[in-house]
Amino acid sequence: MVMKKTTKGKSIELLNKAVADELSAIHQYMYFHFHCDDQGFDLLSNLFKKTAIDEMLHIERLADRVLFLKGDVLMKPAQEVQQIKTVKEMLELARQMEEGSAKDYNQWANECSANADAISKQLFEGLVADEERHYDQYDTELDNIDKFGANYLALQSIERSKTNASNLPAGK
Ligand SMILES: [Fe+2]
Ligand SMILES: [Fe+2]
Repeated sequence: MVMKKTTKGKSIELLNKAVADELSAIHQYMYFHFHCDDQGFDLLSNLFKKTAIDEMLHIERLADRVLFLKGDVLMKPAQEVQQIKTVKEMLELARQMEEGSAKDYNQWANECSANADAISKQLFEGLVADEERHYDQYDTELDNIDKFGANYLALQSIERSKTNASNLPAGK
């Protein structure tokens, strides 16, 4: 059965809202990636970059669906980047963003289901699983900072120094 135009329109609108959120997440996480790298926190720097790449792949899945429904992908970020440079605050914002995405995507999956669009529903459900995993990663990092304090971050800087030193040519 061909989906009714109104049903398609609603799905396209929700899918584009998700694209906007994913774009904001990519920008925010890459901003955090640059600043963690600058401060010498390699583990967190990589975590933000890897997560930004996951979010990019989410946009690809959302965009495929929008085009299948004969809509267009509006590549407009939902929010401006927040210029946070303190690691703990970065993780708090990131965790909050993931929580928001999981909540929205759960709700939008239900809306797509109510509109008889099972494929968009499944797409949103798949994204919820990833956003919950992202939430968990950031939550674990916040736990580590709470447990080990500044030492946890210091260890990441020391690790970089060790790696740099071991990459020096022998005898120099
Ligand atoms: Fe995402
Ligand atoms: Fe995410």
